[in-house]
Amino acid sequence: MRNEDIAEAFNRSGASYESSARDLINLAASELVQRLNLEPNDTLVDLGCGPGSVIAHAAPALTRGSAIGVDLSRVQLEQARERFRRSALQPRFIQEDAAATGLRSRSADAASLGLVLPYPDRPLRLLKEATRLVRLGGRVAATVIGSPFFGSAGMTLLGQMERRGVARPEIELQFDPREAVRLALLSEIEDLRLDEVAIEEIEREFWWEDFADWWAMLDAFGFLPTDRERLLEAIARELKEDERVVDPDGQVRCAVKIWLLSATVCEGDPWL
Ligand SMILES: C[S@@+](CC[C@H](N)C(=O)[O-])C[C@H]1O[C@@H](n2cnc3c(N)ncnc32)[C@H](O)[C@@H]1O
Repeated sequence: MRNEDIAEAFNRSGASYESSARDLINLAASELVQRLNLEPNDTLVDLGCGPGSVIAHAAPALTRGSAIGVDLSRVQLEQARERFRRSALQPRFIQEDAAATGLRSRSADAASLGLVLPYPDRPLRLLKEATRLVRLGGRVAATVIGSPFFGSAGMTLLGQMERRGVARPEIELQFDPREAVRLALLSEIEDLRLDEVAIEEIEREFWWEDFADWWAMLDAFGFLPTDRERLLEAIARELKEDERVVDPDGQVRCAVKIWLLSATVCEGDPWL
């Protein structure tokens, strides 16, 4: 997805991004922060910070430390600034491309990428930037909503889109662990690389009260193409009646897979 489109999608979602999947976002953020091994004095850079969910989870560990959030979306950054208005931790929020920040190399102790990697056309650039920003021995961690995309409900949606020729939004919805390993191995930059790479899978069931809430979540995450409204309405009408999507009680339950990549920054050639 182009940067302008990412910014537009998340400006449009505004506060509904976080409220549409609060439990999922909190689980991913909390697991991510645990892999960063933060110390009280540390500096955390959160790339694609959105409304600041990852930094909020890291804040209790950063009692004397600092945090910087980077995002393309002005509206998400407003949400993030508002969230920390009265908090002890006063993060700096910057509107920039997380693949090319103006931040100094090796200036952070840890970098996080929470549910961000599938959005840009070249996710490797984001992981490289995270590697560049972290000091030797520091940590980098990333989460991705993986395949199968939102369990049976999500896969039924993708099947429908395919059948009706609706091009998916340019987001990688079928992210798998092999792709995460590939990115980690290629993330060498300025003599820094990722080592001790771990890929973990977390699977949890999440549910939405009704079909409209689930659909609104997909929209808020930018998972629905924006230029095929009539076709999407037809798909939504059909999915609403599909028992692979909606349970008899009207709820949508999805087994969601979250891939968690974590690594330590070290020096040298990854292939030696
Ligand atoms: C799904 S949200 C995740 C937000 C937050 N990290 C979380 O865990 O809830 C993705 C965020 O990444 C941002 N984003 C995507 N690509 C980006 C890029 N290249 N540079 C900066 N922000 C980016 C979007 O604007 C959006 O706010």
